Amino acid sequence: MKVCVIGTGYVGLVTGVCLAEIGHDVICVDKDEKKISSLKKGQVSIFEEGLEELVRKNIDSGKLIFNSDTAQGVKEGEIIFICVGTPPLPSGKPNLTAIDDVARMIGKSLNGYKIILNKSTVPIGTAKRIKKIIKENQDQDNVSYKFDIVSNPEFLKEGEAVKDAFFPERIVIGSNSEKAIDIMKKLYGPIINQDFDYAKNNINKKQKVPILITDSTSSELIKYASNAFLATKISFVNEIANICERIGANILDVTYGMGLDERIGSRFMKAGIGWGGSCFPKDVRALAYTAEEYGSQASILNAVIHVNNQQRFKIIQKAMDLLGIIDDKAIGVLGLSFKPNTNDTREAPSITIANKFLELGAEVRVYDPIVKDYPDNLDKGAIFAKDPYEALKGADLMVLVTEWDEFLDLDFERIKSLLISPNIIDGRNFLDKEKLQDIGFKYVGIGN
Ligand code: UDX
Repeated sequence: MKVCVIGTGYVGLVTGVCLAEIGHDVICVDKDEKKISSLKKGQVSIFEEGLEELVRKNIDSGKLIFNSDTAQGVKEGEIIFICVGTPPLPSGKPNLTAIDDVARMIGKSLNGYKIILNKSTVPIGTAKRIKKIIKENQDQDNVSYKFDIVSNPEFLKEGEAVKDAFFPERIVIGSNSEKAIDIMKKLYGPIINQDFDYAKNNINKKQKVPILITDSTSSELIKYASNAFLATKISFVNEIANICERIGANILDVTYGMGLDERIGSRFMKAGIGWGGSCFPKDVRALAYTAEEYGSQASILNAVIHVNNQQRFKIIQKAMDLLGIIDDKAIGVLGLSFKPNTNDTREAPSITIANKFLELGAEVRVYDPIVKDYPDNLDKGAIFAKDPYEALKGADLMVLVTEWDEFLDLDFERIKSLLISPNIIDGRNFLDKEKLQDIGFKYVGIGN
């Protein structure tokens, strides 16, 4: 099928390359010409395992092309994927400017029956809003062309996006058009049946991927409710970790014991400094906003956000407990991305923590295996170190913020000799506490 993907961010690019790889002809469009010109050369600016390779492969085979002309892409595609950003406004409500712009463009460019599919995480009711805008923008030359709107939320995780695109746990289709639903089943056929080349001999291959057909409003809510539930799980565990600290229990044993109950499960049970990234913070706020907008209470959601906002400051409290006054101290912060295996620093706890230390007068050195430029919002007072040892030389404290695998292999004897005082705060309960204590570190984790 001929597919046009609008927006080459995380979701759009991964979706486009996945559809090309399973055999469709894909045109990815973005109004950012610089980005399109890099993508045409096979250069991908986001760090995602396997993605650049697949982009190049599908450019070479002619299945994937890039273009900065959205109208052209819409005209060529039979199925139009909307994958543009919906960043939060200060109120928590998502900003739909990009979606509205795209819908207007689609309305003007319709040249036959098309399916307009929304993959961006959008407020409940957006499918209807897109339909209305497209209709309003059809003119007398193209007003006779019909279209169907489909809500098809994306569940991919950063760092595992390629795997999640090919081997999803479910595909959700929200539509009331039988015709559109049939076409969607064909489009995703190879994924549903797991019969495409990339799946062969792949350890992630599934037997079959379940497809759920629902109305568009339920489909939109499935996405928000799933992310909010996962965020709730983490905030819950963090609250239990805080109780552990008060009563002298160990969160690692507590969550292990809880997770053995299959109804609870052991995943998404890691206590730490809280969740960040481009999805959870935005989506939980947006769902709370929607609840209140529609006269429903968001008591749990608001508590989940509150616990998460507090959690990152636990690190500051722990640092004060170890060091006393922070103002003349040097602190090495390891990890900037909001989680490992991505260069994304949106809403990352690292930024809040580093900025707070700076505000308290500390010298802050930061190191991340991949993030090498100042992320937005990071105070420019933070010093970038070329490696973890440089970040820790002469420091009073090491703070592990992101659980990159390479931090497990650090030479901790060397680190002990570099630090002024052998203090480690492990914001992810990631390092080997006993080994570090044997070496002579004062180790402080979360809830243990
Ligand atoms: C999330 C959802 O998992 C994905 O389905 C959705 O499409 C987008 O949002 P992502 O933001 O890439 O994906 O990250 P994820 O791996 O889910 O982690 C989210 C945050 O939770 C991170 O800050 C991570 O550090 C934190 N986390 C995760 C914990 O603190 N503890 C855990 O046990 C798991």
